[in-house]
Amino acid sequence: MPDPKNSNAVPDAYLHGRELAFIKHQLLEGYLEKLFMIIGMSSTRLGITELCYVDCFAGPWSDDSEDMGSTSIAISLQILDRSRQALGRSGMSLRVRALYIEKDKAAFARLQQFLFSQTPSGIDAEGWPGDFVALREKILNWCGTNAFAFFFIDPTGWKDVGVTMLQPLLQRQRSEFLINFMYDFVSRTASMSEWKEEIALFLGETVDVDDLHGPEREKLLLNTYRKNLKHHLPVEGKWQGRSAHVRVLDRQKERPKYHLVYLTTHPRGTIEFMEISENLDQVQKRVRASTKQHARIAKSGTGELFGPEAFVNAEEGHAGLSEVEAYWLKYLASGERRVGEEAFANLLEDTDWFPGDFQRALGSLINAGKVRNLDATRKRPKKPLHWEKEGERLQLTEGAK
Ligand SMILES: C[S@@+](CC[C@H](N)C(=O)[O-])C[C@H]1O[C@@H](n2cnc3c(N)ncnc32)[C@H](O)[C@@H]1O
Repeated sequence: MPDPKNSNAVPDAYLHGRELAFIKHQLLEGYLEKLFMIIGMSSTRLGITELCYVDCFAGPWSDDSEDMGSTSIAISLQILDRSRQALGRSGMSLRVRALYIEKDKAAFARLQQFLFSQTPSGIDAEGWPGDFVALREKILNWCGTNAFAFFFIDPTGWKDVGVTMLQPLLQRQRSEFLINFMYDFVSRTASMSEWKEEIALFLGETVDVDDLHGPEREKLLLNTYRKNLKHHLPVEGKWQGRSAHVRVLDRQKERPKYHLVYLTTHPRGTIEFMEISENLDQVQKRVRASTKQHARIAKSGTGELFGPEAFVNAEEGHAGLSEVEAYWLKYLASGERRVGEEAFANLLEDTDWFPGDFQRALGSLINAGKVRNLDATRKRPKKPLHWEKEGERLQLTEGAK
């Protein structure tokens, strides 16, 4: 992930209309590498012998360059290569495989050519021509049973990725998903009477959003989709399905374009994903500020005194400090609580707030003498709660009760 403080962080290949793809790819890159390292390092304990990446709508898309540097194909292959090598250095030798599905004939020909000439040694990669929906059963067979599989689901339309369509994949054990929920299209279609049935199939149930607008409409459509996807995830040991998401705004307008919906059964996944989303939130703000500034300059023909940094509001889209403090106080009102991996993931999933929001508010309450971390031996200004492993015990002080 690029330095969030660098305002010129959009590579040339993404300029002029593809800035949102950059956000998407940053998330894929940041999360996938971390995920494969975590799973790879625990593979013996988990009984996993292979790591699989499945790009269900692979492309290439909007990148005519030979190196296809701004496609999920090239990016994923690099991540798989890096992960395999790093795991190998740590003594974990796993088979790493990748599968790319593409329906368009011309795009598929480029995909095949690229895989043939650019697949790093040590990675088993293959491309399949055809329709993702028709290939679902074959994809599952390709994954086998001893592999951990990550499915990247990034279609051009919404109909192929409805809850029912994805159900066979969702039921697979040892899997995670990143799905592009094309909110812009879904929201526009949701009130059209001739599409009501398809939208209900897509969301997994019928919802009435005719009188809802703005954030209320967005929340209902997104959360219905998330809830019903999650419902099909398997129970794995003591873990149940979980979902998180990243909101990606239109390049220039103040409205959401799409959401990247993430599904896992492991609480650690939720926390890692939300930490990466939080960094990405700052990158996204800078990309948008820079895009808008370029448009203003192109229109007016004159430069601007300040760089795009000056137009970034770092707090925008974050929960307010007092709101999160109030949440903590209520959470701890019934007595001392241990907040470990599972509890922290629940907090994130219940609120959709970022890990940093919870840490900042907790730090502020500890400084104000309202909450004690019973397991912290000294002050920790940046990360007052260490949720890792067993987690830590938090308690309200007498003054806060
Ligand atoms: C948004 S693009 C993928 C972009 C790519 N994931 C990336 O990040 O670089 C979607 C691709 O899916 C292909 N496609 C659309 N419908 C499909 C289907 N039903 N099955 C397989 N591929 C499909 C399109 O031809 C297009 O290349």
